[in-house]
Amino acid sequence: RRHLLDLESLSADEIVTLLDVAQVMKEATGGCRRKISLLQGKTCANLFFENSTRTRNSFSLAAKRLGADTVEFGSSGSSVAKGETYVDTAKTIEAMGVDWVVTRHSTPGTPHLLARELDCCVLNAGDGPHEHPTQGLLDLLTIRQHRGSFEGLTVAMVGDIAHSRTARSNIWGLHKLGAHVIVCGPPTLVSERWRELGFEVAHHLDEILPRCDVLNLLRIQFERQKARPFPSVHEYAALYAMNAARMKKARKDILIMAPGPINRGVEITPEVADGPHSVILEQVNNGIAVRMAALWLLAAADDAHRGIAPNSQE
Ligand code: CP
Repeated sequence: RRHLLDLESLSADEIVTLLDVAQVMKEATGGCRRKISLLQGKTCANLFFENSTRTRNSFSLAAKRLGADTVEFGSSGSSVAKGETYVDTAKTIEAMGVDWVVTRHSTPGTPHLLARELDCCVLNAGDGPHEHPTQGLLDLLTIRQHRGSFEGLTVAMVGDIAHSRTARSNIWGLHKLGAHVIVCGPPTLVSERWRELGFEVAHHLDEILPRCDVLNLLRIQFERQKARPFPSVHEYAALYAMNAARMKKARKDILIMAPGPINRGVEITPEVADGPHSVILEQVNNGIAVRMAALWLLAAADDAHRGIAPNSQE
């Protein structure tokens, strides 16, 4: 594959390869802190049409750890304001000689469109509520580091499933690797379609909590909910916030995860976010490792596609 667009279309073997390479990258760079210049001479362009702290900086650092150059594009301050289209903008950046385009956009399917229109590798950094494959991979890597494997694990994705690209990428990735996935949240934010697809759907966190090995706590995406009824922040926190009282009902070795950004006091309270079960900052560090793995594997596939020998500086 020359593109990373979603986890739904990847096989379990492809996902495991990405995780294995990410683990090697993490160890080879002393926890993603040192450079291993495997991809010197290549260039990564970050095209972000939505805000980001973790994904954007993490892709940028991953490329730099691999010795590649980076181009940072944000729609504000660019010629998008003069009417240039998404595809024309991407083609313009590609014409500057980039090897990977990393794209985030509010419209589902935009990375798939670029993969058809561009000749370089395309990586989805989040397309609206559809998918966020590198977030899914970094969550999987974090779980595997703590639990070893996915067989027999019960993982609950909790919160605003309807608008969460992180939820979708996790659900597909966890399912392919053998975990039992529970999709939990208010009925307004969890589609019954998940039940039809064979996943467990729950609306009461307190009922499922005692049998969960991992909770992944999602932010309510108010910015995507204009036409949809939703519980108030107060109601949501009462029913779904992971707090000290709920921690007492959880398994002793439960992993508390969140893709971030977190809203303290809404889906998670500070004592849980900063507590001993939380792996939120480990997830952030693993983000660099999985992005290094994705860039490296796609570059190798792209070189093979073009008939370029491995490690060549052509
Ligand atoms: N998890 C995540 O995608 O965070 P950012 O929006 O900060 O990139």
